[in-house]
Amino acid sequence: MAAAATDAGHGTSASDDYRQLHAASLNDPDAFWLGAARAVDWFRPPTTALDGTSAPLYRWFPSATLNTSYNALDRHVDAGRGDQPALVYDSAMLGISRSYTYAELRDEVAVFAGVLAGLGVGKGDRVLVYLPMIPEAVIAMLATARLGAIHSVVFGGFAPAELASRIRDARPAAVVTASGGLEPGRRVEYLPAVREALALADRADMPVVVKHRDGFEHGVPVAANDHTSAGTHWVDWDDAMFVAVAVAPVEVAATDPLYILYTSGTTGSPKGVVRDNGGHAVALTWSMQGIYGIGPGDVMLTASDVGWVVGHSYIVYGPLLAGATTVLYEGKPVGTPDAGAFGRLIEQHRVKVLFTAPTALRAIRRADPEGSAVREYDLSSLVTLFSAGERLDTGTSAWIGDVLGVPVVDNWWQTETGWPICANPRGLGGIELKPGSPSLPSPGFDVVILGQDGHPVPAGEEGSIALRLPLPPGTLTTLWGSDERYRDSYLSAFEGYYTSGDSGYLDADGYVFVMGRTDDVINVAGHRLSTGAIEQVIAQHAAVAECAVLGLHDPVKGQRASGYVVLKSGVTIDPASLEAELVHMVRTTIGPVADFKSAVVVDALPKTRSGKILRKTMRQMAAGEEYTVPSTIEDPSVLEALAPLLRPVSHG
Ligand code: COA
Ligand code: AMP
Repeated sequence: MAAAATDAGHGTSASDDYRQLHAASLNDPDAFWLGAARAVDWFRPPTTALDGTSAPLYRWFPSATLNTSYNALDRHVDAGRGDQPALVYDSAMLGISRSYTYAELRDEVAVFAGVLAGLGVGKGDRVLVYLPMIPEAVIAMLATARLGAIHSVVFGGFAPAELASRIRDARPAAVVTASGGLEPGRRVEYLPAVREALALADRADMPVVVKHRDGFEHGVPVAANDHTSAGTHWVDWDDAMFVAVAVAPVEVAATDPLYILYTSGTTGSPKGVVRDNGGHAVALTWSMQGIYGIGPGDVMLTASDVGWVVGHSYIVYGPLLAGATTVLYEGKPVGTPDAGAFGRLIEQHRVKVLFTAPTALRAIRRADPEGSAVREYDLSSLVTLFSAGERLDTGTSAWIGDVLGVPVVDNWWQTETGWPICANPRGLGGIELKPGSPSLPSPGFDVVILGQDGHPVPAGEEGSIALRLPLPPGTLTTLWGSDERYRDSYLSAFEGYYTSGDSGYLDADGYVFVMGRTDDVINVAGHRLSTGAIEQVIAQHAAVAECAVLGLHDPVKGQRASGYVVLKSGVTIDPASLEAELVHMVRTTIGPVADFKSAVVVDALPKTRSGKILRKTMRQMAAGEEYTVPSTIEDPSVLEALAPLLRPVSHG
C-alpha cells in the first residue's frame, strides 16, 4: 500500500486512519451511524440504525423522528447563531447580492410553510418546485420539508413535456414557480411552460404559487381572474406571504420521504429517486465535516443548480445542516460577465470551499487559458475545490489547481446516492490525492468491481462498479411509486449489489477510477440525459424510420448528443432542414438543456440479425476505443460506412 503523501513519515498514516474508519462503518454500521446521528437533532432519537427487514430494500433509523427543516434552520437560531448568514444570493445576471441570516431564513420558511398549508399541503403531500436560482427555491424546499411534505424540484432547462411527466408521476398538491429565469442573452418565461405542463398532465386544477420577477409576464393577476383556464388557482408569492401565518416544524418519521428527484434512466421515462429524512440528515451532516471540511460559519459555494442533486445536497441541505453559509449563485462560470466569475465570488463572499463540475472548469480554461481573470481576485479564503458530475480529466485538474492554488478534489456520486460514493475525506485531514481518481469509498459504501459473470475482478481490471448492499444512509430508498422498478433498475443485475451504471477499476491501493457509463445515459455539461429519451422524440418525426443517439466526446461539455437517422423509404427531405426540425423538436420536448444540435442522415444503422441496433459498438467507435463487433452482426459494411461519421465534436 502506498504511503499517503500527506502524512508520510508518521507512525500511522491518515490513509490508515481513514481505512480503519471506513472498515468500522462496514463492520458495524449500527454503531457507526448511531454515532453520526448524534450530530442531528431528533424529536425521538434513533435506537437502531439499519432496518433490513425488507431487504434488499433497506431503511435507516426506523424508530426515530425529526424534522429536516428544523435541523437546517431553527436549531442554529436556537443555538444563538440566528444572526449568522445562512444564505447569500448572488446574481451575476442582475448584478446584486443579498444575504439572509439564519433567523431571517427560518422566518421566511416558516411563513411560506404557512402559505403551502393554506393551500391544503400537508404531511406526505408532494409539492412541485419549478424555480430558477433565486432564494425562493431554497425557501420553497425547506418550507415543504417543514410541513413533512415531499418536494420534487424540476430543473428550469426542461421543457413542458418533461415537467408534465413529473407532475403525472408525483401527483403534487401544489406547484411553486416564478414568472421567469435568466439565461445569458435571453429571458426564460416560466408561466407558459407551467400552463402547458398542467394541461398536458390534465392537472389544470392545481394551486400554483408564482414568485413574480421584474421584466416577466405578470401571470398572476391576469390569470387569477381567468377562470376559463380550467380553475388553476394562481397565488402571488408576495401577497400570500403577507397574510400567511408561520408554521412550526412537523414531526416526521426518519423513514418518511423528504424529496423526490427525477433523473434520467435508459428509457424515456425519468426515475423518481426517493430520499428519506433521517438517513439524509445524518449522511449529509457527516459529509459536510468529514469530506468537505465545512463547519458552522464556513462559506460554501456550490456552483450547480437546485434542480440537480448536487444543488439539493450542497447548495441547500448540507451547508444549512452544518450551520454554514451557502452561496446561491445565479450565473455562469463564463460570460457573466467573464471567466473571472468564480474568483469574484470567492473574494466577495470569503468562500472556503468551491464545488463545481469539470465542464465549468473547462469552459473557464477555454475562455481564459492563463486563468488571469480568476487570479485577479483575492483567493486567500479558499481551501479546497471539489469537482463532481463527470470524470475530472487530469489536465483540467492540474490547470485549475495551479490557478486557484488549492487542492482539487474529485468526488464521484449520483442522484441516487445523494452524497459521494467516493471522495477524499479532506475534513479528516485528507489522504493522498491521485489524479484521475475520486479516491476511496465514503463510509458505508462497499465498492466492488464486477466482471460480466458477476464475480469481483482483480485490481487494475475494468468492470461494472457495484455497491454491496446495504447502501449507507442518505442514499435512495426506492423509486417513487415503484419498489419493483427500483429492484429491476438497480438490484437485479447482480444479486446483493446495487449496480451504479458506471464502469471502472480499483488500483492496488483500492483507489477507484471511474471510466464512464455502461448504459445509454450521457452527461452533457454536467447534465445527465437519456439518449433513449432523445431517440423517442426523433422517432416521432414523419420522415424518420429509425434512429440512434450517441454521446460523442466534446472538449468542453464532456459529451454531446448526436443523432443518426435513417429515412423512411421513398422520403426525400433536405438533410439540413431535417436536422433543424429535429433540433427544434428535442429542444421543445426535452428542453434546451439537452443541447441537441446534430442529426446526420445515414443509409442504415448497424444491427444484429435479430434487429437490435449496435449502439454499444457505435459508442465504442465514437469514443475511439477498441470496439467489439458481435458475430451476430447482420451486415458489417453498414458499420464501415458509418465509421467516418462517428467522431468527437471538435469544438464546444
Ligand atoms: N433554464 C433554461 N435554460 C437553461 C437553463 C435553465 N436553468 N440552464 C441551461 N439552459 C439552456 C442554456 O441557456 C442553453 O441554451 P441555448 O441553447 O439557447 O444557448 C442550453 O440550455 C444548454 O445549456 P448548457 O449546456 O448549460 O450550456 P451553456 O453554454 O449555457 O453553459 C456551462 C455551459 C459549462 C458554462 C454550463 O453548462 C455549466 O456551468 N455547467 C455546470 C453544470 C453543473 O453544475 N452541473 C451539476 C453537477 S455539479
Ligand atoms: P447525476 O445523477 O446527474 O449526478 O449523474 C451521475 C453520473 O455522473 C454518474 O453515474 C457518473 O457517470 C457521472 N459522474 C458523476 N460524478 C463523477 C465523477 N466524479 N467521476 C466520473 N463520473 C462522474
